[in-house]
Amino acid sequence: MNFIKLDIEKVYGFVDKSDVMALKEKAIAANKSLEEKTGKGNDFLGWVNLPSSITDAELTDIENTARKLQSEIELVVVIGIGGSYLGSKAIAEAMTDTFANLKGKGKKPVILFAGQNIGEDYLVELTELLDKKKYGIVVISKSGTTTEPAIAFRILKNHLENKVGAAKAKDLIIAVTDESKGALRTLATQNGYKTYVIPDDVGGRYSVLTPVGLVPLAIGGFDIRALVQGARDMEKKCLSSNNFEENPAALYAAARIALYNSGKKIEILANYENKLHFLAEWWKQLFGESDGKEAKGIFPASVDLTADLHSMGQYIQEGERILIETVISIAKTKYSLTIPTDNADLDGLNFLAGKNLDYVNKMAELGTQLAHVDGNVPNMRIELPELNEYYLGQVMYFFEKACGIGGYLMGINPFNQPGVEAYKKNMFALLDKPGFEVESKKIKTRLS
Ligand code: PA5
Repeated sequence: MNFIKLDIEKVYGFVDKSDVMALKEKAIAANKSLEEKTGKGNDFLGWVNLPSSITDAELTDIENTARKLQSEIELVVVIGIGGSYLGSKAIAEAMTDTFANLKGKGKKPVILFAGQNIGEDYLVELTELLDKKKYGIVVISKSGTTTEPAIAFRILKNHLENKVGAAKAKDLIIAVTDESKGALRTLATQNGYKTYVIPDDVGGRYSVLTPVGLVPLAIGGFDIRALVQGARDMEKKCLSSNNFEENPAALYAAARIALYNSGKKIEILANYENKLHFLAEWWKQLFGESDGKEAKGIFPASVDLTADLHSMGQYIQEGERILIETVISIAKTKYSLTIPTDNADLDGLNFLAGKNLDYVNKMAELGTQLAHVDGNVPNMRIELPELNEYYLGQVMYFFEKACGIGGYLMGINPFNQPGVEAYKKNMFALLDKPGFEVESKKIKTRLS
């Protein structure tokens, strides 16, 4: 069995190995308390043993539902925000031919997303496309009350019902939500949609291996069994009973917290395969929403390289020395492309003739890593043997476990998000939502 590899050697020199090892016992204890559900936020730890508890019957049921819908549609619109869309978006992007749609040979149905913003033009442009396509909807909201997806669903449900009739529309809509609570559950029950449940004890950003991620991905034709298997294998590798030095989640958590304690406040997740852009978006939500509280936390940022070396590279090399860089690298590309010889050699690139493009990419990665370390940016590296659902399952579980351990090392509850309510309160007050009259008055006085 192959595993993703974590290399933290280039952290030493910024913190001592003894600083990381000083966190060993605390990291093991934090990991144990995640597994035994004894720490902060312990009512949201269903994700810890989720991979090993998903049954074959559950996967078969999702696959059957997906097959049924696939036969009727060209597009599926996944409606959700935050943890209710980033996991499936990350995997779909990573596993899709970049130009599939333009080539006309992409997987069917194509997955599109809505409800992750309130952009008016976005939804108008989407509905213009949907006018011409056979489509279905997967609406995902754990709370069932989140404004952005609720608005998008109201608009798209209306669109679909007008297009195919209410009776047919109900067969083209799947709702993924709480078992009993929330407006979406009520709507689904009343309209007779097929539904899937998000377990009570799994928060949004830890929910990619629940129907939140699995249903859209199965409909999109991705290998959800390989994804789950990757996570299962990583679940075993990250157990607190394993040797600390061989437990990638514990080691990564300890290294980043040692760096944080030494004054490094921002972690950049860097990829050299731009299909991983949305994996970084998922990672940013996971760590940002989990760590950022009580005036603590490493700010998670991301760059797509080498593109961003021509925009953000200058800052990383010479700006404020508060950065950590974590690189995600793919060992083996799917395809092979060699650089041709050119007789005139006007671009002076014949020294690369016969070399693979990936060789150049890897040298760019190595050269950048050394330059950034020289520029006082500690570096960690995560290598996936290749880009597939199995290793994505491994890497996602690895990050989840590391995030939980790191949160406990910082003394915070990594499984709540109280700060998210502040903008909602103001928005509802400004929109005159019933029940927000007092806030509405206050905010209007403040703005007048
Ligand atoms: O991680 C979280 O809990 C959040 O980011 C949620 O996923 C996000 O706010 C969407 O919530 P809901 O699924 O309830 O609509």
